[in-house]
Amino acid sequence: MPASAQARFAPPSHDAPNAGAGEPIALASNESPFGPLPSVAQAIARAATRVNRYPDMGSAELAGRLALRYGVAAEQIALGAGSAALCLQLVRAACPRGDGEIAFSWRSFEAYPLFAAIAGAGQRRAPLGADHAPDLGALLAALSPATRLVFVCTPNNPTGVAVRAADLDAFVEAVPPGVLIVLDEAYREFVDDDTAADAVATARRWWSRGRDNVAVLRTFSKAYGLAGLRIGYLIAPPAVADAVRRGAPPYDVSALAQAAALASLDADRELAERCGVITHERRRVREALIEAGFDVPASQANFLWLPLAGRATRFAEHCLRRGVLVKAFAEDDGVRVTMGSARENDAFLAAAADFPRG
Ligand SMILES: Cc1ncc(COP(=O)(O)O)c(C=O)c1O
Repeated sequence: MPASAQARFAPPSHDAPNAGAGEPIALASNESPFGPLPSVAQAIARAATRVNRYPDMGSAELAGRLALRYGVAAEQIALGAGSAALCLQLVRAACPRGDGEIAFSWRSFEAYPLFAAIAGAGQRRAPLGADHAPDLGALLAALSPATRLVFVCTPNNPTGVAVRAADLDAFVEAVPPGVLIVLDEAYREFVDDDTAADAVATARRWWSRGRDNVAVLRTFSKAYGLAGLRIGYLIAPPAVADAVRRGAPPYDVSALAQAAALASLDADRELAERCGVITHERRRVREALIEAGFDVPASQANFLWLPLAGRATRFAEHCLRRGVLVKAFAEDDGVRVTMGSARENDAFLAAAADFPRG
């Protein structure tokens, strides 16, 4: 992405999340570094004048727009207060008496174990592959007769590696029809590798063969930069979407979030350009890290994974002393760094470069 395009997508609010004097550069939560697009900010401002009214409970206009976009029926879409809320609603719907289990690869999205605990469900974890992608063979082997739902996170948070389309197809074919497969694609918009799975395409293929146990989660939090507004969506067979809607608190998706999401769907070109800036930075930062001697898996998301077993916390503390907040994981097995602006990423690279080795 040329510098001119970067400048164009660096409005004054660009650095807002890190604007507080003395605050570190925030590269720890996979947020977008960009402030809202002007058209989206205007839609939020317009909607703000009507917040004395409750929002549309079913987010009908937005569900209709998403249904058109994906070529599915509106009843197959469920909106939620972030895809995290939808994850929990899915787990609760799949394990209503708290007697079932959910399965997922590990390490993956940190909230999966939390959702199991909140729903009173058991959990089964399968290791990632040597390439840091979910190992779908291991995940299949981890399913038990009690498993009701399996999450496949692609690209995987926090490693960034995506599942390949052919592998996902073989997995869906092998999973028993009574187990709901949830393809969590929170980072889909950053995928630029044609061999990576497209969960919606996969789900549609299996639905057309009569399999109604495949669902897809996407979000407006990441590429669309609406993390603070809390809005995500599920694309699923009607019965699954219906169960998820029935498990939602009333009016959980705010009017501001609905308005912002609708305006975002009208700004495809600008959003694709912003994703282009991030994927350009992803390549640039990864190459620089590899050049500096780090091992960095090929990410398809808006972050990079540094497998720094035993040194992750030390690395994160080192970066923080240099004013950059990155995410070290609890078992000290690695560090995830979110792609920020070029300036922010340069600050991170400077910190990484003088991390003591050995
Ligand atoms: C893989 C994955 N799924 C879901 C979510 C939830 O995102 P949100 O609730 O903001 O839509 C996240 C957030 O980090 C994530 O990484």
